[in-house]
Amino acid sequence: MFKISEDGIKKIKQELSRYEVKESAIIPSLYLAQKENNGWINTEVICALAEVMGLPESKINEVFKFYTMFNQKPVGKYHVQVCTNISCALNNSRELANHICNELKVRFDEVSPDGRFTISKVECLGSCGTAPMMQVNDRYYENLTSESAMNLLRGMK
Ligand code: FES
Repeated sequence: MFKISEDGIKKIKQELSRYEVKESAIIPSLYLAQKENNGWINTEVICALAEVMGLPESKINEVFKFYTMFNQKPVGKYHVQVCTNISCALNNSRELANHICNELKVRFDEVSPDGRFTISKVECLGSCGTAPMMQVNDRYYENLTSESAMNLLRGMK
């Protein structure tokens, strides 16, 4: 049974105190809960958040389902999100994403056999001027080539 840590509860209460309506604290609270649940969110997490926030589960669920940065199934230790929107696509990001999957022997949105990687294709991450780019957990990597991306990923243990 998932439980939010004491520190997590404290942070969520701080977020709640910053806004006039509780709903405004849903996104940062989902982020926090996702981190505490190894990078993804399930019904237990939603239930725990609803209790701490004093909101109906449905309110949290609708935000969770809308935003793609919240994962609906388990991800690897490193969640590699390759932008395949227009600027990145024009700079071969789709080929880059396929290359990474082939090299790491994992299908899109699945966890690699060693548990290290999940590769996802995502929409614009707001770094179009440095295309192609990818986000790995909380960090951006830009101006990538197939070689530089694989060097970065192979260094992540
Ligand atoms: S199109 Fe890739 S970051 Fe904007």
